[in-house]
Amino acid sequence: MSFDTPIDRTGSHCAKWDMMPSLYGLPPGEGLAMWVADMEFRPPQVVQTALEKMLAHGIYGYFGDESAYLAAIRWWMANRHGWEVAPEWIFTTHGLVNGTALCVHSFTRPGDAVVLMTPVYHAFARVIKAAGREVLECPLALEDGTARLDLAAWEGLLTGREKMLILCSPHNPGGRVWTAEELRQIADFCVKHDLILVSDEIHHDLVFPGQKHLVMAKAVPGIADRLVMMTASTKTFNIAGAHIGNVIIADPALRKTFANTVNALGISPNSFGMHMATAAYSPEGAAWVDDLMRYIDGNRRLFDEGIAGIPGLRSTPLQATYLAWVDFSGTGMTPAEVIERVEQQAKIATNHGAAFGKGGEAYLRFNLACPRAQVAEAVARLQRAFADLQ
Ligand SMILES: Cc1ncc(COP(=O)(O)O)c(C=O)c1O
Repeated sequence: MSFDTPIDRTGSHCAKWDMMPSLYGLPPGEGLAMWVADMEFRPPQVVQTALEKMLAHGIYGYFGDESAYLAAIRWWMANRHGWEVAPEWIFTTHGLVNGTALCVHSFTRPGDAVVLMTPVYHAFARVIKAAGREVLECPLALEDGTARLDLAAWEGLLTGREKMLILCSPHNPGGRVWTAEELRQIADFCVKHDLILVSDEIHHDLVFPGQKHLVMAKAVPGIADRLVMMTASTKTFNIAGAHIGNVIIADPALRKTFANTVNALGISPNSFGMHMATAAYSPEGAAWVDDLMRYIDGNRRLFDEGIAGIPGLRSTPLQATYLAWVDFSGTGMTPAEVIERVEQQAKIATNHGAAFGKGGEAYLRFNLACPRAQVAEAVARLQRAFADLQ
């Protein structure tokens, strides 16, 4: 399959296209859906074949024997990330929003606070608040449009109620790949303030050529006694509907606490997700991801060149993820005026920056994991919508 081939998803009950009319007032055929973080591409053939085998068999009972699944995860982490994982460290959750919620319930109590480095993936705050915990927003600093840690400022924001920090690595939005030194500084901050460190590395495979993602567990081995790692096949292979994620905990005491929560909530694996993830974490899956990131790199260049031609707009230089993060502050417009132009004139559905917390207000997030023609169309629409600034 070529990534250039458009696939009509309307009417398939997908959130990205089928919720666009009700949420953005943009009918299919007119609107371009560039919001939800899934891709317009089919997963690698090895995943399709695993599903075809299930369909041909036609029995959809309870899943058992996780050995092939655990072996596939261990192979992937060792081969793609140089990280050795023991099978008993791995929990299977219903995705990583679920994994985050399980961490919040396991390692904090109502009234405690959780540190987020904002702007950051919006569902973190949602599950923290829904659990009766507080969010402490620690805004990232910007240097030439690129996110940087601002630990000295964050020290002054702490209230003493914080029990956990959730790191997004690589960072969504903005696509930062954190350096070894930055990871060490985050780990030191967690030690100093006695915080459990949850490292959500769901975007770890989606790094651009020339970039290297570092796994927190490897970058700072001394943090293991307070570290929860989260990874998933779903973002990498576009199988998010399978709702499956890996929560990987090396420390036995943390593992016991987490296992109690999983057991208390009666969580057990979804067989579709297990079969798909097992197939995806393979040499065929790896070759597909390499092709994918080369393709998205081309999309990113096209998009960034087009945005650079519109005065007042600035696209964050992505090191990872397929999620462009565009700063509209240079237009002098309010966020509402920008949204009105992008949605009503350009007819593009994006994620609004304010949803990602402090520091995101002037931004919109555009999903570039689509055929290149759609990126070109989006750029042309934005150039027309902001033509008066040229
Ligand atoms: C950082 C981060 N974590 C988690 C998720 C979603 O995870 P899941 O679909 O496994 O619940 C996303 C989706 O975009 C994300 O960006």
